[in-house]
Amino acid sequence: MDEAQTGIGRTGRVFAFEEDGVVPDILALSKTLGCGLPLASVSTTAEIEAGCAKAGFLWLTTHLNDPLTAAVGAKVLEIVARDHVAEKAAERGEQLRQGLLRLQQKYWCIGDVRGQGLLQAIEIISNVKTKGPGSELGQAVSDRALELGLSCNVVNLPGMGGVFRLAPPVTVSAEEIDTGLDILDRAFDSVLQAKGL
Ligand SMILES: Cc1ncc(COP(=O)(O)O)c(C=O)c1O
Repeated sequence: MDEAQTGIGRTGRVFAFEEDGVVPDILALSKTLGCGLPLASVSTTAEIEAGCAKAGFLWLTTHLNDPLTAAVGAKVLEIVARDHVAEKAAERGEQLRQGLLRLQQKYWCIGDVRGQGLLQAIEIISNVKTKGPGSELGQAVSDRALELGLSCNVVNLPGMGGVFRLAPPVTVSAEEIDTGLDILDRAFDSVLQAKGL
């Protein structure tokens, strides 16, 4: 299971698989584990590891088991537990989700709101009946939000403006979520008005 994006508290659980009641055979982590340092990990059972060793699976060498980044990863896991980061992400995520659902009531072009914890997405549509993707509209809202001070779309590539992936820091405050929602509200409002939609 790849929890490079979902792992370490983001979804309101330390690992997203906890929500689904499964235990992966192999767990891959990256990104937040190193908190900015280049650190990724693979966790598995002794049996699977022995099989990998026997089969000669080898990927990297120089930074394998690097003690500096490993110490950072261990500290991140310690702080996530100590400061109840996952529980706080669940609370802030619910606040974000409720705010996005309010925006969905207000703006016809928000077709769907989905996600877990502090990993939420809003789908921008161009037509209420067909629910076809509203990439251009999404791009315009994302650009306007940035002008107003909010970087809200993690993946901002041509053709991918139809779904905003929102992933605020797991340490985000309630006030910051409110500010972000307010900016998004203003961005939707001004873009729809400017386009006469
Ligand atoms: C879900 C997911 N898995 C794996 C990776 C790759 O991680 P790494 O850069 O540590 O190889 C990424 C990077 O974007 C990712 O989003």
